[in-house]
Amino acid sequence: MVDIKILRDNANIVILGSHADVIQSMLDYDYLVGKSKPSIVAIIASGRKQERYFWGESEVTIPVVANLEQLSDAVRESITAALNVQSARRILSSTTQAVELLPNLQVVDIFAEQTPESHSLDLIKLAAAKNVLIVGPASVGVLIPGFMKLGAIGGTRHPQISHADILEIGDTAVVSTSGGMVNELIHTVTGVGLGISFAMALGGDRFPITTPAQALELAEADKHTKRIVYFGELGGSDEYEIAQLITGGKITKELIVYIAGTVAELFEEPPQFGHAKALAQTKDESASAKKEALRKAGAIVANTFSDVHNELTKRVVEKRVVTEPKIGTRKRSMIVSHISGEIDENVVLLGKDLMEAVENNSIASLVLSMLLGEQVDSKKAVAFVDFVFKLLVDHGPYVSGALNTIVSARAGKDLISSLTAGLMTIGPRFGGAINSAAAEWVQAVKDDVTPQEFVEAFAKRGGIIPGIGHKKYTIDNPDPRVKALKAFAKNTNGDQYLNFALGVEAITTTKKSNLILNVDGTIAAILLDILESEFNYSQQQLLELSEIEFFNALFVLSRSIGFTAHYLDQRRHDEGLLRLSPDDVRYIE
Ligand code: ACO
Ligand code: LMR
Repeated sequence: MVDIKILRDNANIVILGSHADVIQSMLDYDYLVGKSKPSIVAIIASGRKQERYFWGESEVTIPVVANLEQLSDAVRESITAALNVQSARRILSSTTQAVELLPNLQVVDIFAEQTPESHSLDLIKLAAAKNVLIVGPASVGVLIPGFMKLGAIGGTRHPQISHADILEIGDTAVVSTSGGMVNELIHTVTGVGLGISFAMALGGDRFPITTPAQALELAEADKHTKRIVYFGELGGSDEYEIAQLITGGKITKELIVYIAGTVAELFEEPPQFGHAKALAQTKDESASAKKEALRKAGAIVANTFSDVHNELTKRVVEKRVVTEPKIGTRKRSMIVSHISGEIDENVVLLGKDLMEAVENNSIASLVLSMLLGEQVDSKKAVAFVDFVFKLLVDHGPYVSGALNTIVSARAGKDLISSLTAGLMTIGPRFGGAINSAAAEWVQAVKDDVTPQEFVEAFAKRGGIIPGIGHKKYTIDNPDPRVKALKAFAKNTNGDQYLNFALGVEAITTTKKSNLILNVDGTIAAILLDILESEFNYSQQQLLELSEIEFFNALFVLSRSIGFTAHYLDQRRHDEGLLRLSPDDVRYIE
């Protein structure tokens, strides 16, 4: 059984599914208890890459991934808590996957109602087998004051949370089958001047994954808990288990109990209350019988809810000094930039004052840092980008992009239009194959495909392998740039992607001599090796870089210099409008 003290550590939380109000309330809690950063490290949902929330009066973005496998090993290992807000039918599979993929997971809270009972029974077995505290289904959360608010528990608006006196640890545990009543009891405890040691809403299903008896055993073992307030209901037999724990000396701490549902005994037929378990099918399951059993065992059983308040009031030695940190007005910004912004009227770039960033970075270092969205300090990576930047700057006026810029300049177009004409030529055949080559190399290595199988798969579907082929160069007339890039790569670790790409070239060039590993394919391969060896990027992260066109950005930025130079050259020596002569074009009827 997990010990509450383990949860009294700064949790790293993953949200399975998404629930904006609950997530915001958890972030507000983190901020109000003084954390330096959100406890939520990721949201598992589809259709977006991040979600934006307030952090105090500011804003933060929480990364969103489609599944837990897409998180890096380091992030998965850092996660100690999960809030599952997915629909009932997905609870078993998603909770099981979380327990299996998150090696340091301590607690899961399940929000969904209507979870199939058979799934709850499976999760009871899973919790025991893996020693993970799984609370719910139909739970509003687990609260560990000062450390973690896992779920809606304690309130969903920051003024509520700030006012609730749940930011600092106290000595009274609250355990409740009902979500609404857990908040009511928290409010009652703090209202008389006591503090919460921890609070747990177990849910009102017939088979709670953590039972009331187990929750009370957690409280018994918790050194910060001096007394326990428990809210139960008619139906089921949990309270007899609790009575046995008391008489057996397993629960020795003061236990103040309220059992709801005596009104059911006024009906001829036992009524079904809101919670699935709240139906007294036998006399023993009635609220009165349960209260009597607990009273006999030695618990302090409240007849009315105000008795709970009165019993707690008797135990107040000195009212807690309540701090109520406030969150001021907040306004959602129009856009978020992780690259640059202003702090105190000063422009900052990647977290540094602009002038400091400029002074401390070479252009290659600035380019790579800005393209990756983080300050890089890998000398090898910066040296490679510097080399590539120079290598790609131009390849003569013959190539389609330069030609389009030249034609536009001679047509009297301005710089931006002529540059754009050239840039719009960059694509799958010319200059724009670096992204797709990178994706192919990563996927092939990830799938452990041989170069032979890779080439055959393309040939089978008549596809064109990105990064392979050139209009000018062949295996007998190699591209000097590719030769220089390979020489540079000797210094990078691993080279698994470069070696794979060279393996593909060895096959394609047996078919046609110009199907060489071209400059796009070579840059893609070496940059992948560097990102993996220098930055420890996962293959998922590399694929995401390809998907957002990071790799092509290098060609675009560098070749823009060449296109601009050709534009200025044409403007300097303006020969006027270019028109092909008839022998430049063959008209075939
Ligand atoms: N993968 C597989 N087969 C290819 C490839 C390739 N990359 N390139 C050409 N072929 C095959 C064609 O399918 C065709 O086969 P077929 O004769 O059986 O029909 C044959 O080779 C000739 O095809 P072409 O397109 O006429 O060959 P070309 O030499 O003109 O192609 C090009 C050169 C456009 C670069 C081509 O190789 C290609 O599209 N490569 C992939 C894109 C790429 O990497 N571009 C970057 C080039 S470097 C740069 O732009 C900086
Ligand atoms: C380039 O860098 O533009 C070339 O590889 C393309 C070409 O056709 O020369």
